[in-house]
Order: sequence, then structure tokens, then C-alpha cells
Amino acid sequence: MAKTAVQWVARPRLPDDHYVSSTIYTDPNIFQEEHQKIFGHTWKFVCHESELPLPGDFRTVEHVGKPLLVTRGQNGSIQTFFNACPHRGAKLVNEPRGNAKNFTCFFHLWSFNNQGECVSITAPKGYEECGLTPKDCGLRKVKTAVKLGMVFVNLDDNAEDFEKNVGDIMACLEEPMGTVPLEVFHIHRVVMKCNWKQWHETNMEAYHEWGHVVNRTTGIVADGYNEMLTVVNENGHATVKPPKPLEIKYDKYKGWDKREANPLPGLTASEFRVVDLFPNTTIILRATTLRIDTCIPVAPGVTILEQRGLGIKGESPEDRAERVKHHNQYWGPMGRNISEDVLFVEAVEATNRAGTSEYGILARRQGGKGQDDEMMRAYYRVWARMMGRKASDPHGQNS
Ligand code: FES
Ligand SMILES: [Fe+2]
Repeated sequence: MAKTAVQWVARPRLPDDHYVSSTIYTDPNIFQEEHQKIFGHTWKFVCHESELPLPGDFRTVEHVGKPLLVTRGQNGSIQTFFNACPHRGAKLVNEPRGNAKNFTCFFHLWSFNNQGECVSITAPKGYEECGLTPKDCGLRKVKTAVKLGMVFVNLDDNAEDFEKNVGDIMACLEEPMGTVPLEVFHIHRVVMKCNWKQWHETNMEAYHEWGHVVNRTTGIVADGYNEMLTVVNENGHATVKPPKPLEIKYDKYKGWDKREANPLPGLTASEFRVVDLFPNTTIILRATTLRIDTCIPVAPGVTILEQRGLGIKGESPEDRAERVKHHNQYWGPMGRNISEDVLFVEAVEATNRAGTSEYGILARRQGGKGQDDEMMRAYYRVWARMMGRKASDPHGQNS
């Protein structure tokens, strides 16, 4: 039966971790609070180490509006700093990437090396009386971890170490990502009209594979698909463990072929693996291809999606061409799945913003297998713990 206005806004008769209020996507106060309570303390993927291959290479990135500078020092280690001059606060580096031993601020010409130390202050005599010297003026270091070539940062100096925080959730990536040198061959940025969590949800939600023409043709029909077990840990990170490697039937989609040649190390032909890291990084492997997703929240209803495609460094041009072709079939700018996913999340955002949607339902239970929603429920339990609000009732109206 269709619902009346009162019935439409009534909370669902479900356990309170089985649905979320639409206001978690639209409320500007919640969005700001997430910056502090979630992004202020969690590990954020910023780039792959192949984007900084040489000593002195750097990249500038933004994390929840904060400009950051990621450098590879002369000793080869990767570090991150606020991209802000400690003198009067000017943004220190404006190029998106480059190579430099030192960075000189364009305002009063103080200089810093790529380890974050201040190496010179212009006209230093003027500071002698107050005793300020370069050693007092280093850049603000940001906690950085490199795992399987992926560079993560954490704005909280006291945050739990990355390895401890993720536990063994990334074990299925060790062989494909840890035994051969990889490099990014493709970075695709999309500005989406949606909340940042909606993108991460689509990466966690196997049920929406019904919406993808390719997935319902090639993936849901894979042997063992409904036995694939959802694994979540206490920090909201997740993966799936099928009883045997999931063999996606790529050649069932018209015009596509099997992915038998050249799979990534440790993967069988056509295998699928996924790891979702709280709060907004996903690594997806599809036999020959590897994609890393991260989201940059801009406003409650605006998110920049950044997707990287990776291949094996030094592989033959033919192997690379095949890998790029497979990547683009799903995930390139004209890829079948990315365009569909963007349509999905923007469709949800449109009704949330209009106030015509009250709740999202996360109530599928299949013993933690197949298209169970447990991954999203676990995610929102962690979100609730960090935010001090239930995702089902973020304003405490139903308490
Ligand atoms: S603000 Fe950078 S040197 Fe003054
Ligand atoms: Fe999708």
C-alpha cells in the first residue's frame, strides 16, 4: 500500500542499525562534524608511491580542505606536511607535482627542504633579538604510512598505527600488490552531486550489482557468489572471502573477452577481490586490473571521486594495452560501471536533497554472505561510535 505523509516519515520497524536517516547525507552540521570526528582521526589514501618515484618528487593534495604536501625525501622515504608556510601561513607549494630538494615560499622567501626542515630565513638578523632561528620553523608533519605502495595520511599525531588499525583486512592484496612493482597509469577525477558516504556505500554494497548490466550478466552468476562471506573488523574496514576464487564470466558480456592472459600475481583468471577501508578508500581487483578509489568531500552534496588504475611497472606495451582496455571497459571515463554508479548515487542525492526520502534501508541479511548488507551496517556502527550519533537517528528525535 502506498504511504501517507505520516507513514512516510515514520521510522522503519527495523533494528536501528538496519537503516539510516537521509539527513546524514544532507545536514551541513553533520558534514562539518565528520571533518573533525572522522577525517581528523582516520587514515586517508592520498596517492600511490609510483606517483613519487624519485627522491625529491612531490605531490600536493587536499584532505578535507587542508592543503598537504607529500614528498619523497633524499633518503627515499615518503613524508607528508601541511602545505603551509610556518611564517605567515602562505600556501608553500602551488604546483600539483614536481621534483625539488627545497621549497621556497614566494611571500618572504623562507626555504624548507623536502624533509620539512626550515633551511633558510630571509634577512635573519631581524630575528636575532627575539632568538627565532630556522630550527624553530619546520613544517607541520602529518602522520604517514605506506602499505603495499599506497600512501595514507592521518591528521591525528596520536592515531593508532595504520597496520594495527587495518588488522589483516588487506591480506588478500599482499600478493597482487606486494610482489611486483606497480604504477598508476590512469587517474580519473569526477565531480559528483552526492554525499561522500554514498560513493563508499556503492563500493560496499553487493546488492546493487543487480543495477549494473555487466555485473548481473557476468558477476552474480559466478560460482560461489552467494557463498562469498562478508568480513568486517571493529574499525569499519571490510573485505569478502569467497569459498573459492570468484570467477567472473567476463566473456558473457557481448564484445568482452575472458581475462585469462596476464592476471595480477596470485589471482586466477577472472578473479574478483575487494577491500573497503574506513572511511572512504576502496581497492578492487578484477583479474588483470586494479583500481583504487578515494573520495574528497567538498560539500554535503558534492564529492570528488578520484580513481586510479594500476599496472605492472616494466610490462610489455601489449600487456599494458590489454590491461588498460580491461580497466576502461569497467572504470575508464566511458567505462560501463563508473557511469552507472555515478547515476545511482546522484539519483539518491537528488531525492535526499529535495526532502522526498527519509531513510535508507540496510536490512538484507543472508548469514553475512552474498548480498548481505552487513558491510554497510558495520560501517555505520563505526560512524556512529566516532560521531556520537546513530546514523538512523542522528538528531536524537527518536530517543
Ligand atoms: S609566509 Fe612564507 S615566507 Fe612569509
Ligand atoms: Fe557499482
